[in-house]
Amino acid sequence: MPEAPPDEEPSLPSLRVEELDVTYGRALSALRSVSLTVPHGGVVALLGANGAGKTTLLRAVSGTLRLHRGAVTAGRIRYGGTDLDGRDPVAAVRAGVVQVPEGRRVFAGLSVDENLRAGGLGLSRRAPAQVREARDRVFALFPRLAERVRQPAGLLSGGEQQMLAIGRALMASPRLLLLDEPSLGLAPQMVHRIAEVVRLINAQGTAVLLVEQNAGMALSLADHAYVLEVGEIRLSGPAGELARTDAVRRLYLGETTGGTAADGQGAA
Ligand SMILES: Nc1ncnc2c1ncn2[C@@H]1O[C@H](COP(=O)(O)OP(=O)(O)O)[C@@H](O)[C@H]1O
Ligand SMILES: [Mg+2]
Repeated sequence: MPEAPPDEEPSLPSLRVEELDVTYGRALSALRSVSLTVPHGGVVALLGANGAGKTTLLRAVSGTLRLHRGAVTAGRIRYGGTDLDGRDPVAAVRAGVVQVPEGRRVFAGLSVDENLRAGGLGLSRRAPAQVREARDRVFALFPRLAERVRQPAGLLSGGEQQMLAIGRALMASPRLLLLDEPSLGLAPQMVHRIAEVVRLINAQGTAVLLVEQNAGMALSLADHAYVLEVGEIRLSGPAGELARTDAVRRLYLGETTGGTAADGQGAA
């Protein structure tokens, strides 16, 4: 029997971003020759300072770049057998790729339940049983949401809103979840909870591309990591190895690892 290359097997898709260039408007180059892979079922972390281009990369993959006046000007984005560059968000969702935007955007005036219903909308012909199954999965992951189905999302705490934003994305039963800074602005306990949830989602078979400024959290979850610096990949490698490199320790892990506090003084 001839063997198909594993990445082309439609049931085991991986994300491949190849030499991607993205610009906003006419001139602003946000990504240059960025290549990145998220294997089927893997967790990959994308680290980088504010403005490095992390969100831009997720937008390019999820087809939402155009909503922000951005465009892919070179390179390719493939997910399994599907070309995603230049496609719209519905095409990405249908391919199994769903983004949780930064800033835990929920519809504040709508109830938890209504927010969740909005999550499978790109998928027209889903059987009610599939939708129920997706909801059950969300409520199993986030019992707090199950207790608050009728509450307006605007009344939830920040952490609960982040859970709702993730839950809404899960309603589309993604095979690849793009998470944009889920821990931002949350209390340590909630960050811990979010990390647990990412682990669970991944254990249930969903690959995750995790954008974080909290490098410690992201590297503890990821198999592989990339560091983006002003639009270019500066470093990449197995998460455990990257966590030990000087650059990552100094710039992203806040020098807490070695106890050499004096070294940190010059770092911006
Ligand atoms: N809608 C937009 N229009 C113009 N420039 C943008 C837009 N969104 C982001 N940028 C610019 O693109 C660069 C990368 O931004 P972004 O992807 O948001 O970075 P990060 O998520 O790593 O903080 C920054 O210089 C930012 O100012
Ligand atoms: Mg961002």
